[in-house]
Amino acid sequence: MTTPEAPRILVVGATGEVGRLATRELFDRGARLALTGRDKRRLAEMAARSGGPTRILDAYDLDACAGAGPWALSELGGLDGVLVTVGVAGFGPAAEVPDAAAEHLMTVNALCPMAVLRGAVPAVRDGGFLSAISGAIVIAPLTGTADYAASKAALACWLGVLAREVRRRRIAVVDARLRHLDTGFASRAIVGSPPPLQKGADPGPEVQALVDDLIGHLGDLAPRRTAVTPGQVGTTPARSH
Ligand SMILES: NC(=O)c1ccc[n+]([C@@H]2O[C@H](COP(=O)([O-])OP(=O)(O)OC[C@H]3O[C@@H](n4cnc5c(N)ncnc54)[C@H](OP(=O)(O)O)[C@@H]3O)[C@@H](O)[C@H]2O)c1
Repeated sequence: MTTPEAPRILVVGATGEVGRLATRELFDRGARLALTGRDKRRLAEMAARSGGPTRILDAYDLDACAGAGPWALSELGGLDGVLVTVGVAGFGPAAEVPDAAAEHLMTVNALCPMAVLRGAVPAVRDGGFLSAISGAIVIAPLTGTADYAASKAALACWLGVLAREVRRRRIAVVDARLRHLDTGFASRAIVGSPPPLQKGADPGPEVQALVDDLIGHLGDLAPRRTAVTPGQVGTTPARSH
């Protein structure tokens, strides 16, 4: 059920595992959602549940990425927050990863979310949030992950600077440094095989905690859910940088 005060939120990459869970979580809390994805059928299925507007978006179309925030603002009549969950894995020794794969990783993991959030800065309201998922890998990158880790580190660095630049507008920039999750993400790598990894964590509680954090930044607009497992998410509010 939505109310006139329901937070209006754009989720970019809504058809991925984390995106799908975050979308469901936000919807359950009464948010009004604008969703983007690149799979028309899965996006339509999600829209049937959320009832909000959708848009096909490929990470390589940076102009379209930059237009997502203004589109959501126009569709929802306001924009309280943006969450970008787009990302792709790629592995291999730094000396062996093909340049085309390195470019792909940098585009999808860094340039796309940067373009979305850059374009969303003028669209999001003062006191709202801008968020993207980097990962715990930016703190402790493993061998065989140089190009993936570099793309996420670039995103994390950019978010840290953005956070300082929008602080005056009380916009929270949330760099979600999620740990390894059991979503099958690494198995969809565009190049190479992942280094030996422990079984990923259950994504449900992690995403719930992330959404709790994001909604919490909106103040009185929506209540925080209390049943969140504390300390399970590596969400870093970059505004403290
Ligand atoms: N799972 C983990 O262990 C983990 C840990 C830390 C951080 N993360 C980050 O969390 C985010 C979500 O990961 P996930 O586990 O939910 O994996 P996922 O299910 O594979 O989701 C990846 C998302 O990125 C989208 N995407 C990939 N390439 C794209 C492109 N060229 N254009 C547009 N969209 C594209 C996918 O779209 P489609 O739905 O069309 O495929 C999907 O929505 C990623 O940024 C990932 O780096 C994941």
